[in-house]
Amino acid sequence: MDTKNNIDRYKLKQKASLSGMGVENAPENYDWIENIRNFNMDHSLKTRKTRKFKLNVFGCQMNERDSETIAGMLIDMGFEEVGEHDPADIIVFITCCVRENAEERVYGHIGALSKECEENGSIIVACGCMMQQPHIVEKLKKSYHNVKIIFGTHNVHTFPKLLYQYFNNKKRVIDVWEKEDRIIEDLPVKRTEKHKAWVSIILGCNNFCSYCIVPYVRGRERSRSMEIVLNEIRELAKDGCKEITLLGQNVNSYGNDLGQKNLFAKLLNAIEDIDGISRVRFMTSHPKDLSDSLIDAMKNCKKVCNHLHLPFQSGSTRILEKMNRRYTKEGYLNLVDKIKRQIPDIALSTDIIVGFPGETDEDFEDTLDVIRKVQFDAAFTFIYSPRRGTPAEKMEQIVSSKVISRRFQTLLDIQKDIGTDLAKKVEGKTVEVLVDGPSKQNPNILSGRTRTNRLVNFEAEGVKKGDIVLVDIVRAGAFWLEGRGGKVIG
Ligand code: SAH
Ligand code: SF4
Ligand code: F3S
Repeated sequence: MDTKNNIDRYKLKQKASLSGMGVENAPENYDWIENIRNFNMDHSLKTRKTRKFKLNVFGCQMNERDSETIAGMLIDMGFEEVGEHDPADIIVFITCCVRENAEERVYGHIGALSKECEENGSIIVACGCMMQQPHIVEKLKKSYHNVKIIFGTHNVHTFPKLLYQYFNNKKRVIDVWEKEDRIIEDLPVKRTEKHKAWVSIILGCNNFCSYCIVPYVRGRERSRSMEIVLNEIRELAKDGCKEITLLGQNVNSYGNDLGQKNLFAKLLNAIEDIDGISRVRFMTSHPKDLSDSLIDAMKNCKKVCNHLHLPFQSGSTRILEKMNRRYTKEGYLNLVDKIKRQIPDIALSTDIIVGFPGETDEDFEDTLDVIRKVQFDAAFTFIYSPRRGTPAEKMEQIVSSKVISRRFQTLLDIQKDIGTDLAKKVEGKTVEVLVDGPSKQNPNILSGRTRTNRLVNFEAEGVKKGDIVLVDIVRAGAFWLEGRGGKVIG
């Protein structure tokens, strides 16, 4: 790839596309990128080797999307990406702190790399949500000497500058911005896939669910301009992208900070007119903000997939109040009824927390009641993990870990049966699948997702990654469908 041309293109594009939109960018970043690229070019000429990097991404789609920007910047700086088992000069950790085990995995991985760092002279870069917490940065500074660069979620764009500083004086560089700032547009990006893409529409969260660390590490809500989002999607479509997933901690708040009502529904309607895009997904929707205009948009927009991720967290109104979720069990069930009436073939998925402080057997029964009544295709279930600085951390925990584990297992078992029963209804039917490529378990068969977001493994001739195909489902389990393909329809 000709990175010099890329950088010139970015500079021009920034001037052209962002002028008049009231959006700021950070043109100085491209100077830092250029400086390092020159430095890397000298190194390549002298040693006939290209410096390498690899990424370790933890957590949610926000981090996945950030990792694409970090990879984009590194590639423009002249580094080459390698696989997880290959040696690299720079090893980037994009971290998550939503639960304790996410943090433990990061510490474990970084610790395990000390030999590789010493042998190869590699450095570790730590960024992402964990870094927004001062006690974590302190721990890394004290006990993890190979971590040479640390930055946070609000200043991803300063990475080239920090790397330049590190290369210049070989001293550890730490720069974590406490507060969110303007949205930086038009940073380099290396998309993980060509046929599908994440498009973030709103950053941060204002909801402060009492258990959740996200608002503290991702800042307040900031919506990207609709014009910029649409331009990005048009560019993606021109590049062969067929499916986009619009991202936000709560996409239903999109536009609120811009003083615009129902902007999310308007955005979905506007995407309908973009040729080339066949599927639109979004996550996550907070039940308290799911408007009638959004249900209408989902119903009327042909590209919007008939799948909705609608976390309910707990079925108990008492616990929901302690969680600061601002809806009740009945409110949630009524909302689901309304959605199902309007969109009968909708598939629902959810997130559930087990063992929130004070959760009684009765509260847990309410959670089971909700999963039985709603019939989710999939549920992501988590054991409550106290997070430093959140209101729930101070709430008294009355439930033993043994009881919580038992509840957790009960929930898994019941949901597995529900998921299997729903899947069985697809047996014998023909479904539309966007092909993601060879299956991870068996490279001889293909794998992809239905519009309802079910995983399908299937055999087919003449079908390739990125095709949209019709697949006959011959067998169904809770977590994946097995099929035979497949007429290519897109
Ligand atoms: N913004 C999204 C997702 C946030 S994090 C939403 O509101 O749905 C993803 C999931 O992690 C949450 O839905 C919740 O189920 C879970 N989670 C968040 N904090 C947690 C904690 N402290 N302990 C256990 N699970 C948690
Ligand atoms: Fe966390 Fe609640 Fe915001 Fe989701 S909506 S990110 S669970 S505070
Ligand atoms: Fe984790 Fe941050 Fe996402 S805490 S869940 S990576 S927003």
